[in-house]
Amino acid sequence: MIIFLLFLSVFSPSWAKEPRLVEMSLGIDMKPPEEFSRLPARNVNTAWTTMPLDHFDHQNPTNFSMRFMFNEQFFGGDGYPIFILVGGEWDILPGWLMAGNMFEMARENKGYQVYTEHRYYGASKIFANFTAENLRFLNIDQALADLAYFITDMKKQPRFADSKVILYGGSYAANMVMWFKMRYPHLVVGTVASSGPILAKVDFFEYLEVVHEAFWLEGGEQCIAHIRQGIEETVASMQTEEGRRRLEQAYRLCEPLNYDNVYDLGQFSGLISWTFSTSVQQAFPGSLISICNNFNDNTYGSTPMEKIGGYIARIRNLSSNSCWQINYQSFLDSYMLPTNSRAWYYQTCTEYGFYQTAPTSGTVFDGLKWLSLDFYVDICKKIFDERFDEAFVKAGADRVNLVFGALAPEVKNTINIHGYIDPWRALGVYKEDVSDTSPTYTVDRASHCFDMRAWSSSDTIAMTAVQQRARRIVTSWLS
Ligand SMILES: *[C@@H]1O[C@H](CO)[C@@H](O)[C@H](O)[C@H]1NC(C)=O
Ligand SMILES: *[C@@H]1O[C@H](CO)[C@@H](O)[C@H](O)[C@H]1NC(C)=O
Ligand SMILES: *[C@@H]1O[C@H](CO)[C@@H](O)[C@H](O)[C@H]1NC(C)=O
Repeated sequence: MIIFLLFLSVFSPSWAKEPRLVEMSLGIDMKPPEEFSRLPARNVNTAWTTMPLDHFDHQNPTNFSMRFMFNEQFFGGDGYPIFILVGGEWDILPGWLMAGNMFEMARENKGYQVYTEHRYYGASKIFANFTAENLRFLNIDQALADLAYFITDMKKQPRFADSKVILYGGSYAANMVMWFKMRYPHLVVGTVASSGPILAKVDFFEYLEVVHEAFWLEGGEQCIAHIRQGIEETVASMQTEEGRRRLEQAYRLCEPLNYDNVYDLGQFSGLISWTFSTSVQQAFPGSLISICNNFNDNTYGSTPMEKIGGYIARIRNLSSNSCWQINYQSFLDSYMLPTNSRAWYYQTCTEYGFYQTAPTSGTVFDGLKWLSLDFYVDICKKIFDERFDEAFVKAGADRVNLVFGALAPEVKNTINIHGYIDPWRALGVYKEDVSDTSPTYTVDRASHCFDMRAWSSSDTIAMTAVQQRARRIVTSWLS
């Protein structure tokens, strides 16, 4: 018996499953067009520029290095236009200067392509330690000023002195380009804003409403019924010991959930909702239908709850020797390193909210009530500062809405594009034009930032038409 136990203790690590933490999908990881993500950076170079750390305190002499990339393969010479792809809460990658709709614009107009990195993200981190103190210089005002300095510096080169500048941005960077055009109208002739959630909103329950609607539009009532039954069975299973064991098995959890801790349950609810969100945010025509087909023909599992657990494992690529670790403290710990995720969480606490809470309007996600505002705001308090409470977070969002005009920005020459099944469009202007010179295009069956990519065989005619329309408008601004 003793020998057996020894044997167990020596070998159990290799039998134990590898715990994996769930990543929250609040920020966007802007992967380059698929086919170019792994290719060498053809024609794309990386460079660095010096930026003041604090644009609004002239007495602070501290600088930092901001990374950018450029591609001059199409550049026609003196006075030809500059196209700047604006980086958001992610690492800039060369693939975006090798394909996509801005690449086509540069080709058609003999433009010079640039991709700027947002301060505190990617290799433009500034600080080795992201304390709340060090993150003070991470905000939209500083980031827009970085762009203004960047453009002004570029235009000091004689070849760019007469060049017109176009900005293109997706997601948070779509807000940036629109707001840049409002604040520095003299520096750019026009901007393309792809999927911009320009309304800062702390309790963003509309997000999961659109996720629900997207599955309904693509997969119909039957698909919704599968998801609803699976989530209802999950919530009901929490009531009994026997149900809890079935739940832990269906979702492949490493250890029993802490059913007494609302934050552990919030994280578990997120494992479910953030996976459905990811599927919708990255959807292309046909992708949600194939998920729904898998629900129908038991590909993910047999019981309604097993289907949800199996779907999550499949979509998130959980390997057979791994399990999900649901533990609020480990979740918080994973946010302590100076990563893009931590920087973006800081911006949600101080500027945007954007917290994807459980709706109460009859969606399949209503039962996941642990996805509360308190859950998301508690993270602000725990990983940054106890003072970052709900009132603080709401005041930050109010400030952004006050400064930039919320859903009624006064902005010229901005092409405002949305995908109808993109959950972020709920915080954008998607029903009407932004202004006389800033048209809106909202495309059915399209999702987040669809227009930025290169043409794909799954694109609908309407998607391609909007990309072309944007290119024609940009060309007219340049003529
Ligand atoms: C910051 O950069 C500016 C402009 O390049 C330079 O004049 C200044 O000396 C730099 N400050 C420090 C502290 O190096
Ligand atoms: C970062 O700052 C915190 C708070 O000041 C400190 O506790 C921690 O040790 C620092 N970490 C590193 C890697 O310097
Ligand atoms: C899924 O896992 C397989 C095997 O580990 C890996 O080759 C593949 O790249 C993963 N896919 C994604 C999307 O992570």
